Amino acid sequence: MSLAETRRKGNWVQEAATVIAHEAQGDVFKLVLAAPEIALRATPGQFVEVRVVPVGSSSVDPLLRRPISICETRMAEGSISLIYRVVGRGTRALATAIPGTKLDLLGPLGHSFPNPAAGTGTLVLIGGGLGIPPMVGAAEWAVAAGRECVAIIGARSREYLAGGAELESVGLPVTVMTEDGSLGGRGLVTQPLQALLAAGRAGEVWACGPEGMLAAIKALTVPTGVPCFVSVERFMACGFGACIGCTVAKAGQSGYFKACQDGPVFPAEEVELGG
Ligand code: FES
Repeated sequence: MSLAETRRKGNWVQEAATVIAHEAQGDVFKLVLAAPEIALRATPGQFVEVRVVPVGSSSVDPLLRRPISICETRMAEGSISLIYRVVGRGTRALATAIPGTKLDLLGPLGHSFPNPAAGTGTLVLIGGGLGIPPMVGAAEWAVAAGRECVAIIGARSREYLAGGAELESVGLPVTVMTEDGSLGGRGLVTQPLQALLAAGRAGEVWACGPEGMLAAIKALTVPTGVPCFVSVERFMACGFGACIGCTVAKAGQSGYFKACQDGPVFPAEEVELGG
């Protein structure tokens, strides 16, 4: 079985999840939910579709669910956490959910990152902006599997490093980069990646973040032969292949993948990434 084939596919359920905690830091929110069925099935890299109107409400507005990557999974406690930024009407409505509220979730959806136990060498986890939260669960998975791993996280400034504290608490070395130098090194996540690749210290790379960042990581990593997996960001209206609103062009051939079903995690060499 190839490394790519060890990605797990969502065996999703619909679950009424209860809000356990909901905290804000500026416009970034961390939502902890009791969702035992989803916690049992989730693997890092997968996401949930959240209906932002509470269960039992007669309102159907906003109608569309919001796709959010799973940050942490606590199988024993039956809970998951999500970190999101308020960017529009849907996330603004979600931000009002108080502990005890029930939210309708579909998940876990999509393909996960590959099994870290199946890879070799140092695993380099890279998160940019809101691509950092899914790397928290990825880091916990890799550390639990006994895999040596390091993380590189970046954003335009320190306020955009959502999930950075959670990642550092996993206990792996974390290099922080900000474009304005407000925290960590000044510059892009590709700088420390380039250094690791040049030194032969990267055995595998997993990345999640803006498409330009993923394209740059792919361009640096794929030619070296180091396995590279990217989690692409798309607005996923349905989450399970019905609306065809989340296409990703195939690399080197015609046609498209559906990010929600075939991804969101892909082997980097299989997808066309724009800047
Ligand atoms: Fe509907 Fe992917 S989100 S097909």
